[in-house]
Amino acid sequence: MNEEQRLSIGEVKPAIANKEEKDYSQYFQTVYEPPSLKKARRRGGEEVSYFDDFEIDERFKGMGNGRKFYIRTYGCQMNEHDTEVMAGIFSALGYEATTTVDDADVILLNTCAIRENAENKVFGELGHLKPLKQRNPELVIGVCGCMSQEESVVNKILQTYDQVDMIFGTHNIHRLPNILTEAYLSKEMVVEVWSKEGDIIENLPKVRHGDIKAWVNIMYGCDKFCTYCIVPYTRGKERSRRPEDIIQEVRHLAAQGYQEITLLGQNVNAYGKDFDDLNYRLADLMDDLRYIDIPRVRFTTSHPWDFEDELIEVLAKGGNLVEHIHLPVQSGSSSILKIMGRTYTRESYIELVEKIRKAIPDVALTTDIIVGFPNETDEQFEETLTLFEEMKFEMAFTYIYSPRDGTPAARMEDNIPMDVKKERLQRLNKVVNKYAAKAMDKYEGEIVEVLVEGESKKNDEVLSGYTRKNKLVNFKAPKSVIGKLVKVKVTVARTWSLNGEFLHVVEREEVMN
Ligand code: SAH
Ligand code: SF4
Ligand code: F3S
Repeated sequence: MNEEQRLSIGEVKPAIANKEEKDYSQYFQTVYEPPSLKKARRRGGEEVSYFDDFEIDERFKGMGNGRKFYIRTYGCQMNEHDTEVMAGIFSALGYEATTTVDDADVILLNTCAIRENAENKVFGELGHLKPLKQRNPELVIGVCGCMSQEESVVNKILQTYDQVDMIFGTHNIHRLPNILTEAYLSKEMVVEVWSKEGDIIENLPKVRHGDIKAWVNIMYGCDKFCTYCIVPYTRGKERSRRPEDIIQEVRHLAAQGYQEITLLGQNVNAYGKDFDDLNYRLADLMDDLRYIDIPRVRFTTSHPWDFEDELIEVLAKGGNLVEHIHLPVQSGSSSILKIMGRTYTRESYIELVEKIRKAIPDVALTTDIIVGFPNETDEQFEETLTLFEEMKFEMAFTYIYSPRDGTPAARMEDNIPMDVKKERLQRLNKVVNKYAAKAMDKYEGEIVEVLVEGESKKNDEVLSGYTRKNKLVNFKAPKSVIGKLVKVKVTVARTWSLNGEFLHVVEREEVMN
């Protein structure tokens, strides 16, 4: 993309903010807009542009020679994958990766804004990095990711974290070489956050984490606007990658020997809805991916809203499509779901699960739950517990509601004290653990297929990997099986993992049947 094209996108101008200034608002007028539900809801008028010719500009090549970069990633897989892209850009510029902040020349914090404690971790880390910067003024510290898309965060950093040299958002990571150059040249904090909702840029370089499992973005952004959630503001509007680009990427990964791919999107079921020239949805994509010689294909995350029958039919075909679905429910109370803006009820969620279970009888279902949504009553919370018991989820991520600036829920009065919310979380987690353990128990004595990822984190004598349903399995076997699919006989089931005995490596033909 050349300079002219970039500017023609509109609203896209870099800004440099002076750390000494007190009134920073002028810097945001063209490059930055605070999360605004009203504005965001009017989204859609702007065209999404595709760029498939990304190249590192000649003038930047070699700028990293002799320099090292370090990226710390917070948040979801989307962020992890963005980190892989940024690592790819750093490498293309000549930088070398390092695993400690102490010998890094550039440190990037790829941040998450989903809950307050996620943000606090980042502010804490910035505090820890200050002495490093004082010792080494040449060090460049950058903040990127979802927090950078929030006006309050950018202001706070400008005012109190002068160790930071650059801030950039989620829509312009491909501008990293330009932003870095500006950070080197300028004594001032470089802020480049685009209010533009995002384009699709193909051919970005990537350095993937590992060579066994890979992430593949299929869409970006979110248009669901659940009333508690910041993501639609930090990630822009829903936009899907073209099927041919995705299929080509997966084929390429298969050829490189990857064994598992996870398709990524905030709401993958909305995939393709934004195409106006093509009738091609997630079901079609999954159906096409079945023919690629890669043993496992997953996706995350599905919103119950767009989960269509065609998708269930395709998933039921099995093969490399695994029988695990992460289907966040958030609450078991229809009235809370309504205020959350989730668009389904307790009953329609149950109906959907029944349909899925009928088509894929041995499916493993996992979920996300928020407790302590504003004014959630004891009875409404109990409904979440009973739904959990009814659905028998095999695992759940559970959270206490955290108000996010600029979202509708943050403006709701809340009369539930924090200690009540904490107690609810504890009660819920007990139920979660009970059903997780139950789901594991049934594996005792069974033979499972495991994709071996490496040595166990706790014991390097032991190898570990995951089953198709994402159960962690530990067992002893020669290191040569790392990266392969193996059969393991389960001897002991724990709540969150299985121990077993290695049987044999799975032959290729077996995998594809
Ligand atoms: N797109 C996914 C969720 C991504 S965020 C989906 O809709 O299913 C991951 C999880 O974080 C959500 O499912 C929700 O449970 C939780 N979450 C999001 N916003 C939150 C908030 N403000 N407070 C607490 N938890 C939140
Ligand atoms: Fe957030 Fe809802 Fe979008 Fe998920 S679907 S990212 S919870 S707004
Ligand atoms: Fe966090 Fe952004 Fe992901 S807010 S959960 S990193 S999309």
